[in-house]
Amino acid sequence: MRGIFITFEGTEGSGKSTQISILAETLRALNHSVRILREPGGTPIGEEIRHTLKHSNANHAMTPETELLLLNASRAQLVREVIEPALAAGEIVLCDRFYDSSVAYQCFGRGLDAGMVEKIIDIAVGSTRPDLTLLLMVPVDVSETRRVSRQMDSAPARDRMEEADRDFFQRVEDGYKAIAAKDPGRIHVIDATQSIESVAKAIWAQTASWASRTGILPVPGAWNLASR
Ligand code: TMP
Repeated sequence: MRGIFITFEGTEGSGKSTQISILAETLRALNHSVRILREPGGTPIGEEIRHTLKHSNANHAMTPETELLLLNASRAQLVREVIEPALAAGEIVLCDRFYDSSVAYQCFGRGLDAGMVEKIIDIAVGSTRPDLTLLLMVPVDVSETRRVSRQMDSAPARDRMEEADRDFFQRVEDGYKAIAAKDPGRIHVIDATQSIESVAKAIWAQTASWASRTGILPVPGAWNLASR
């Protein structure tokens, strides 16, 4: 049986990686085989592209078009090298970002033409589409506060993507809302301003109800949150 492809979306500081780990742990406890991936990255080629996009000293002059193509080169590699084989083997794939990020950041954020962005995405992903997308929403001021406090905690390497101004992140947030409104069957919006535990519960409730509605996963009693 083909596996399930679940993507996580949201702006910086929305808590995606923490929530992906929690959902993976829950699914593994139910004996599912789970693979966690991230974009850009997830393959040796993709991780090099990630470095170029975010941290390389040579990336200051990167144009929006170059950014779009590099992100989708990483995606094309990840789909063919990892995601498709994992789905064919029946695994549940949890991916931190996928093509909705290119629509939110490159189209809404950078202002690239929507038709062009869609064409490039189509080349990158072929027929591989997420079954379910969990969009973790936090307002831009919460995202900014969390991003700054994370930077102060861990003193990370410079990140070109985080050098954009507040207006850019506001456009990205608005873009995500527009994307979600267009595709409510696939994209489920989660209020990510709550505590880690509350957000995890909301994610689990959405995932379990989606699974029972679509019949994509057999839903044993353990899918009931109350029985965990
Ligand atoms: P992150 O893994 O810390 O979220 O960093 C990835 C960065 O790349 C983040 O700023 C969002 C950005 N990004 C895009 O702009 N477009 C995309 O298609 C993807 C996958 C990521």
